Amino acid sequence: MSGRLTWHRPVSLWRRAVAVVIAAGTWQVQAHGIDLGDALLAYLTDTKPLRLGDFARMRAAGEKITMLTCYDSSFASVLDEAGVEMLLVGDSMGNVVQGHSSTLPVTVEQMEYHTACVVRGVRRAFVVADMPFGSYHEGPEQAMRNAARFLKAGAHMIKLEGGAYTAGIVRFLVERGVPVCAHIGLTPQAVHQLGGYRVQGKLDAAAQTLKADALALEQAGASAAVLEMVPAALAAEITSATSTMATIGIGGGVDCHGQVLVLYDMIGVYPGKKPRFSKDFMPEGGSIAGAVAAYVAAVKAKTFPGAEQSY
Ligand code: KIV
Repeated sequence: MSGRLTWHRPVSLWRRAVAVVIAAGTWQVQAHGIDLGDALLAYLTDTKPLRLGDFARMRAAGEKITMLTCYDSSFASVLDEAGVEMLLVGDSMGNVVQGHSSTLPVTVEQMEYHTACVVRGVRRAFVVADMPFGSYHEGPEQAMRNAARFLKAGAHMIKLEGGAYTAGIVRFLVERGVPVCAHIGLTPQAVHQLGGYRVQGKLDAAAQTLKADALALEQAGASAAVLEMVPAALAAEITSATSTMATIGIGGGVDCHGQVLVLYDMIGVYPGKKPRFSKDFMPEGGSIAGAVAAYVAAVKAKTFPGAEQSY
């Protein structure tokens, strides 16, 4: 039996007691090659892998979805154990791991490698792989070819940046069984066109375009959409205009269906400029696992992000 004890949700005392006995190795039963101790332990500790439908249920129930970026197996295991529901193998890896000043140099091969690393550290979390710059911009066939590489590496969903112009690509992928997370607002791959990392949708016309983008992407079948550096009031308006797609904010205010941060920002190890929307949870968490648990608790309790992390 290889299972570890992790309580992702409230677990009754009797379940905990039985799980402790099993984990102590006092019950080893094999049937048809399956270790029943492992299966029972997974049931008792609620480590069932999360699926797309779980996020739809959380969205409908008003339970906030937690996401953090992750680039390797050891951190994946820490985040998974702390109860983070979605791990994003973000192309922010280009900044925080590779030291580039933008995400543009990141390649499909690098993202594929890091996706496989993260997947190996996960028991419960849903893994989202970022499509890097140039890997889907030529059209649906190129997007499908590269998305297939990420799903073969073990990802459960892919993420791609861009507004309504990507709706055709999103539809093509979703129709072929690839769950998609969209990404609008500040889209870092377009940094040179946007003229820097700044808040998007401040003027009325831009706000209306962002809302139309979100609805077009939902219509095309996106299950989730990251809203990055969008005024909180606009993110709230977009969130309530959606009917199935979960909005995941990063600098998008507290009303989004979920939140995401770059891991290295929220544990305070990235030496570069800290964006306003981020928060270092290390002082209150005391350790990496503690900081991640504090982030999860704050998102669930709707105390993060506060006004000081919003626009
Ligand atoms: O790559 C990344 O880390 C991201 C987040 C900013 C959402 O896309």
